[in-house]
Order: sequence, then C-alpha cells, then structure tokens
Amino acid sequence: MADMDGILQNKDKDYGIGIPVAGQSFFLKGSDNLDWGMKHRLSRIFNEKSGRTVMLAFDHGYIMGPTSGLERLDLNIVPLIKYADSVMCTRGALRSVVPPSMDKAICLRYSAGTSILTELNNECVLDIADAIRTNASTMAVMVSIGGTYEAKTIENLVRTADMGYKYGIPTMGVTAVGTDMVRDSRYFATASRICAENGANIVKTYYCDGFEKVVNSCPVPIVIAGGKKLPELDALELCYNAINDGAAGVDMGRNVFQSEAPEAMIQAVRGVVHDSLTPKQAFEMFNDLKK
Ligand code: R5P
Repeated sequence: MADMDGILQNKDKDYGIGIPVAGQSFFLKGSDNLDWGMKHRLSRIFNEKSGRTVMLAFDHGYIMGPTSGLERLDLNIVPLIKYADSVMCTRGALRSVVPPSMDKAICLRYSAGTSILTELNNECVLDIADAIRTNASTMAVMVSIGGTYEAKTIENLVRTADMGYKYGIPTMGVTAVGTDMVRDSRYFATASRICAENGANIVKTYYCDGFEKVVNSCPVPIVIAGGKKLPELDALELCYNAINDGAAGVDMGRNVFQSEAPEAMIQAVRGVVHDSLTPKQAFEMFNDLKK
C-alpha cells in the first residue's frame, strides 16, 4: 500500500551521499546491465573520460513556436553544434536544418502534444521507426509527475522504454514542472526516481537546493535543464553546482542560445562540465572568447 510518508519525511532519509555506486564496469551509473547497442548510444552522448555531457537543447519550438534566439535555427543553432556532445531537437528541426553530416549524438524529442497556448503535457509519442531512421541516440519524453496528465505521460515513457529496449535506443525522461508545483528536492527526487523506475535510462530535471539528494536517489544519470535565461555568470554557477552535486551534465538551451555570445557561452559551459572549471574561470573564458 502506498503511503505519503515515504515522500514527505525527507530529512530522515539516507541518500548515501559521497558513496559511489558499487560494482560498476560501464562508466555510466545504472547502465551496466544494458545491451551493447544501448551502451554504444549512451557512449555517444556521454564523454567516457569525464562521464558527462553537454547537450544543446533547441526543441523549445515544439511547444513555444519561434522562441527568442531560435527564430532562425540555421543561423542561430547550426554554428553552435560543433561545441556540443549531443543535440536535443525535434524531428522537424533535425530534418529541415541540422546537417546530416554532423557527428553528434541525437537526442530526439519523442513526445509531442499541447502547446503553451493550452494546458501543457497532454502528449503522444512518435513511432520508433523515426528514431531508427534519424539514428537517434536517445528519445526524450516529457513526464508530468503530479500533473493533470501524469498517467498519460508515464504511459508515454513506458511505451517508449519498451520500444527502446527492443531496438537498443535509450530513453530520456524529462521532468515537466507545472507552474503550481514546488520546485524543491523532494519533488525533483520523486519525479526523477519515478522516471528511472519506469524505464528511463537518463533523466533530465532542474537544479534545486539539496540537488545531491535528487542525484543520489536516482539510479541513472541525471542532466539538468538550464531553464530561463540568467546572467552568464549565474548560469555558469548553476552548471558548476549541478556538476558538483553529481549531475552527469547539462541539457541547456536558453542560457546558451539567448546569451549575448552563444558560441562563447557554450564553450564556457563545456569548460565547467568537462574540465571542472570554476564559475569564475569559465566566466573569464566566456569574456575572452566573446572578444
Ligand atoms: C523543455 O522541456 C525543453 O525540452 C528544453 O529542452 C529544456 O527545457 C532545456 O532547455 P532550457 O535550458 O532552455 O531550459
């Protein structure tokens, strides 16, 4: 029988913070028992040396239309792709704009539905055939825990993971947050864990205070979304704190493509994620590159 105490009494929980996951031979948490194809695709997203990734997210148009900074994907985004480990986008953007010759892992936006003009998250999923055709390294599915469309979005995740295991393509659960929800570690830990338990091989969520609890209670790698545009130093601090708390990378959009210098910004983010630069060092790098 389910009880709310399990998710409410956060302070008494033991997250084993600082204790590495035991007995792993593959470099990514929770991925040891996956098939070769899954591991191969995960290795295209995550850098084996750092164990981390910089994903460039520009799928916003699927719910927001021509988002600021994404008006012209060919002009705004294509020049940034060379600095990313992976691109996260819709199949529409991929086919119309992204050069097929690029050598980056594809995180395919795999769920779609309502836009910001109505209530978000009433979504369906694509056909696995399109993930295979586009050579996707992972399929991203929105999951709305605690929201109106919780059951439907979990069903989308489950169906995607079923097909993903069948064809060797990992699934990324993307935790959606309703405007009325509290953005704290209890919520993000609950949402992330539910994604992993239901088959997600990667979870994308948001950074918050107590983030190490979110990471430690999730058995698969977590990447963070950047969220709304922040001043560059603040965005680099966000990346640094997330990595320090155990995130396996970032899946960042607005804080890169809405930056005053997007090419400089994505390189500075790489510095934090892969080279462990401090926010100050990365901000200096940003200012140097901006010149
Ligand atoms: C949100 O669900 C979208 O899928 C974005 O990819 C995600 O929010 C990351 O972009 P941003 O860093 O702009 O939040």
